[in-house]
Amino acid sequence: MSFITDEISRLNIESELEKLVCRKNAAAASLEWGMNHIMFAPSKRVRPLLVLEANLVYGTPDSDAYILGAAVELIHTYSLVHDDLPCMDNDELRRGVQTLHVLHGDAYAVLVGDALLTEGYSMLSRYTKTDKLPLILKFFGEKAGRGGMVYGQMLDLEYEQRLSGEKKVSLESLNEVNRYKTGCLLQLSLLCGAVNGGASAEDLEIFEELGHIIGDIFQIKDDILDETSSTEVLGKPVGSDERNQKSSIVRFLGLSGANDVMNQRKNDALRLIKKLSGNRDFFEKFLDFLITREK
Ligand code: IPE
Ligand code: IPE
Ligand code: MG
Ligand code: MG
Ligand code: MG
Repeated sequence: MSFITDEISRLNIESELEKLVCRKNAAAASLEWGMNHIMFAPSKRVRPLLVLEANLVYGTPDSDAYILGAAVELIHTYSLVHDDLPCMDNDELRRGVQTLHVLHGDAYAVLVGDALLTEGYSMLSRYTKTDKLPLILKFFGEKAGRGGMVYGQMLDLEYEQRLSGEKKVSLESLNEVNRYKTGCLLQLSLLCGAVNGGASAEDLEIFEELGHIIGDIFQIKDDILDETSSTEVLGKPVGSDERNQKSSIVRFLGLSGANDVMNQRKNDALRLIKKLSGNRDFFEKFLDFLITREK
């Protein structure tokens, strides 16, 4: 993790996020308390990092870049709160802390999730380059909502218990789940960082495809870690996918098949990155991090 953690501290991601999002003196069990509890539990901050790194290809990130990073992280965090609910994956630990529904009930977790989502969009009202805002809002709507991450979460539930039997799931449909439930928010991060930095239309297309590939690798590794890691290291329960009878690429192809797919996708990404007009060192290292990460 050290390459990523160094980069996150060099860019002051955690402290800027805290300044933008943390509500001091939140009363116990208030919405603000729940938002802080889950937002500021230890997490990788991959999405704000990708916002800043896509921006960095074109120039130094400004305060708008941090606003975009905070907005994406808020939306990602709401998706985790809802993903852990008993009606979805039913998990009791997230980012090393107890999940909100365990602490204060399902309705509380639903509402904290709603508040995080709304806060993500409110954050965008602080974005100062108003000429770019319509495009950024379009990306947020498309990648987070009914045709993006939320759609992927819907497919994920639909494909549970379909590793065998009559309605067996295909590799193609599992790729589709990953593309939407995970790839879309990674695409959103890269796209809005690149727009803020002033990327060309051609580069935006490259970033969109790169986000898709990064999403594939990220979710396959997440599924591998669910089988091979420990709850202490991950800060979330291992074995959740098996318990929920999830149809994942790892459970479909086995660990070594899944590793092969990750490496193929890495090569696809390397070919794509070469087409970017600016500095691409970060993305080459980031691909290795994705495949070797331990949490
Ligand atoms: C978890 O995302 C959800 C997936 C898309 C697999 P992360 O692994 O980025 O979780 P945090 O943000 O570090 O907690
Ligand atoms: C979730 O995928 C992706 C989201 C949109 C939250 P998982 O259900 O595998 O994520 P984890 O393992 O709970 O973090
Ligand atoms: Mg899930
Ligand atoms: Mg889950
Ligand atoms: Mg998982």
